[in-house]
Amino acid sequence: MAAFVPPNERRVHSPHLPLGDHREAPFYGKDIISVSQFTRDDLEYIFGVAKEMRAMVERVGTFDLLKGKILANLFYEPSTRTSSSFLSAMERLGGSVIPISEVTYSSVAKGESLPDTIRTLECYADVIVIRHPEVGSAKLAAEYARKPIINGGDGIGEHPTQALLDLFTIEEELGRVDGLTVTMLGDLKYGRTVHSLARLLSLFVVRLNYVSPDILHMPADLIEELAAKGVSQKEYTNLDPVLAETDVLYVTRVQKERFEDLNDYEKAKGAFLISPETLQEAKEEMIVMHPLPRVGEISLELDSDPRAAYFRQMEYGLYVRMALLAMVLGKA
Ligand code: NCD
Repeated sequence: MAAFVPPNERRVHSPHLPLGDHREAPFYGKDIISVSQFTRDDLEYIFGVAKEMRAMVERVGTFDLLKGKILANLFYEPSTRTSSSFLSAMERLGGSVIPISEVTYSSVAKGESLPDTIRTLECYADVIVIRHPEVGSAKLAAEYARKPIINGGDGIGEHPTQALLDLFTIEEELGRVDGLTVTMLGDLKYGRTVHSLARLLSLFVVRLNYVSPDILHMPADLIEELAAKGVSQKEYTNLDPVLAETDVLYVTRVQKERFEDLNDYEKAKGAFLISPETLQEAKEEMIVMHPLPRVGEISLELDSDPRAAYFRQMEYGLYVRMALLAMVLGKA
């Protein structure tokens, strides 16, 4: 945190705003760093706004809620969905975007520090989405920024906007979250999407199954954190024992870029392949999700199965990100 300027005084949402303003726009000026900041009421609110966004996109496509507002999309790691859905979200709301996805061509390549880059971009933009390989990078950025920071993935840490869209997908597809059995499969050690989603699901009454190769277990501290909240969690190395009870099968790719020893990656990759045959024993009313990209863990033949929800999941992401941008900019 910048010692010379108390962050609260630098925030766009001044604590001195009249109470009514906070009630009308509860997320105005806030950062989105971790799913731990959300309550169930918050989720209901966000998803309510996301549904309004969907209705508006279906009716008119693009509208001017954020006309004149600028988003800086700062990506230090590769991205297709997160960066382009934030870009699309901003443009559908009438705003514009500064895309910085090749940091090799920006001053970062000259050795500029993250705080300096953030302080620069916030002169030009009203909100910043950041994806960065280090855990805690979005939090660090938020400590320096006067403008809202949205975490688009901080290393193996969190990916809160993905977890929000994942939860929205589950609610929209299955009509509820309480009472469901969610099975997470794949790279649970390095996959930030499952870290955020498991935390977010701990607000509900769910059963979590973790299926992973031995070397890619869900981190022990996260399991402890959720156990302390009373969440039922079980670990497996094989999908068979839990497939039949599963309502949501959340598949992830093995995160090659996070391995120190590529021999370990070679051993773990290809551990699972979800295909139409795999789902023979699964419920009729269940869904298969994946944050994408997939690199061989779900066969293309599964795409035509109505339970394959991963492409619909991407579309839900647009509405959730539109909602988040409108909310932090005080327009929802
Ligand atoms: C995920 C990510 O970046 O963590 N992708 C995404 O945002 N949809 C998942 C992944 O890269 O495997």
